[in-house]
Formats: sequence, structure tokens, C-alpha cells
Amino acid sequence: MAISSHEQTRDRIRRRKEELKAVIVAHNYQRPEVQDIADFVGDSLELARQCTQVDAETIVFCGVHFMAETAAILNPERTVLLTEGSAGCPMADMIDVAELKKWQKRYPGVPVVSYVNSTAEIKAESYICCTSANGLQVVNSVPSDEILFVPDQNLGHFISTQTSKKVILYPGFCYVHHRLKPEQVRLARKLHPEASLIVHPECQPEVIALADAALSTSQMLRHVKASPHSSFIIGTEEGILHRMRQENQDKTFHLLANGQVCRDMKKTTLETLLATMESRQNIITVPEEVRLKAGTAIERMLAVA
Ligand code: 13P
Ligand code: SF4
Repeated sequence: MAISSHEQTRDRIRRRKEELKAVIVAHNYQRPEVQDIADFVGDSLELARQCTQVDAETIVFCGVHFMAETAAILNPERTVLLTEGSAGCPMADMIDVAELKKWQKRYPGVPVVSYVNSTAEIKAESYICCTSANGLQVVNSVPSDEILFVPDQNLGHFISTQTSKKVILYPGFCYVHHRLKPEQVRLARKLHPEASLIVHPECQPEVIALADAALSTSQMLRHVKASPHSSFIIGTEEGILHRMRQENQDKTFHLLANGQVCRDMKKTTLETLLATMESRQNIITVPEEVRLKAGTAIERMLAVA
């Protein structure tokens, strides 16, 4: 019964996709059934790039608000729909322009590097953006010995351990990753001593120090495919396991701890995806002045890596 109703929903999504001349893109943390119906699944950098290359009138974004906003900034001539209007990112909301201005006053003239997990307004005030996949190259490309990194303190710290530049950290964090603790790493290693342990750079430095690698979500996917290991402990949002298991059926994957769930990423379902497409709701727009400035910071990033 549930299977046939899912099938009907999928058929209606496909039909509506044709009518809207749409492309459906999804982040690696989306629900398995949402990833499966998307035309493209990827990490933040891949999705930002993909959105500049699509041949479609409408981009249907299965993810959170800042991601759809990035797509809207790069595609002013296309309509961008977010598949759940209330899907935000608590980390992106940890800094607003008034707060950023206070930090800029404290560090006058220091260029701002903003993680793409930030609002369009913050991007517009930044010299350049970065993702977890290109953060080091981006920071090294900035023509200054000092940078102000917002909003993720953990990604900023991870980059600071690999660059000669002074990285000033804003104290934002992602609750899904920040809550992972060294004791959980030790316990997971005890339970699965043969496994390779990889985490996301949004984890705390003490956790990253105990891991075998810290990688963006798509870097993780490439890493596990190429690795000689047959078992892995994964320290990021659980949605990533879907593709990992699909693409590596001979390998075993364990989550580092329970509760690695981003509530906002999970708001999108096949039903919200269909409802969004049927009523063309949740259209994401960015005021032109902000779009132009934020676009410069994103384009600068895309030129680096
Ligand atoms: P990446 O997919 O770029 O690694 O980002 C993880 C994330 O937290 C997105 O919200
Ligand atoms: Fe934001 Fe973390 Fe969710 Fe990514 S996983 S959208 S950083 S809260």
C-alpha cells in the first residue's frame, strides 16, 4: 500500500518535472528516497557548481535555505524552489550582518571568508566564500596574512592547522557535528577496531585529531570507494550512508554515534517535494544588491577551486 502510494508520488514528481522544465538537486544528507529521485546529489560545492551548468528553467532544491539561496544567486534567470520552506541551517543563523560588523570593527581591514553555510547577506559582506571541500585553497588564495572566518569555528580551526595565515575564528558551530565527543570516537574504535574512521571538518578539533581523515561529504564518498578498508566509522550526518552503501555494497558502514541527524535536512520528503513543485511554492529570491555582492564572493570561490 505504502509502496504503491510512493510510486504514485514519484510518477507525479517526474511528470511535474517535465512540465516545469526542472532539474532536481539534492544534498548528500537528504532522505534516501529524495536522493533517489534527484537528478544530481552532491556536497555544497558540487551543488553550487551544478547549478551554474544546468539546462533547466526551474531548479528544485532538496536541501536547506542557504543552499537554495546560493543557487538563486548564481541563476538570476531561473526559478529556484526550496522543497521545504522552513528548512534552515542553525549554524548559518548564528551570525547576522550586525554581529559581523562588530567583528569587522574589532579586526579592521581583515578580509572575511565565509563558509557557504551562511546567509546571502553574510556572503555579500565577505571577500570570498568557501566550502568544506575547498576551504584551505580558498584561505590560501586570499591576499592577506590574516583572515576572519565565519561562521563555523571548527572548519575554520581545521583550516588554520594547515595554513600559515592567521585565522580569526567566529564561534559558530553545527550542532550535528559539534556534539560528537572524543569518548564516542574511542568507544566506536573499540567496537570496530578494523574500521577506518572519517569525520567531517565541522567536528571539534579533539575529534578530528583522533580520526583517520576529515573530509567533506563528497570527499568521503570518493575516499571510501578508493580505500582498501572494508569497514568504516562515519562522523557526519546519517544521510550520507545511503550513497555509501549503494556505491560500496561489499563494504560496511557504522555511524560514529547515535543521533547524527540534521532536523532541517530531514524536513524534505517526497510529499513536500511534490507539493512544492505542484504549487510552485517556496520560490527563493535574493534582493539584487545583495545578490550581486554575494555572487562576487561565490564566483571568487569557484575560480579558486
Ligand atoms: P558538505 O556537503 O559540503 O560537506 O557540507 C556539509 C554540511 O553541513 C552541509 O550543510
Ligand atoms: Fe546546518 Fe549542520 Fe544541518 Fe548542515 S548539518 S544544514 S551545517 S545544521
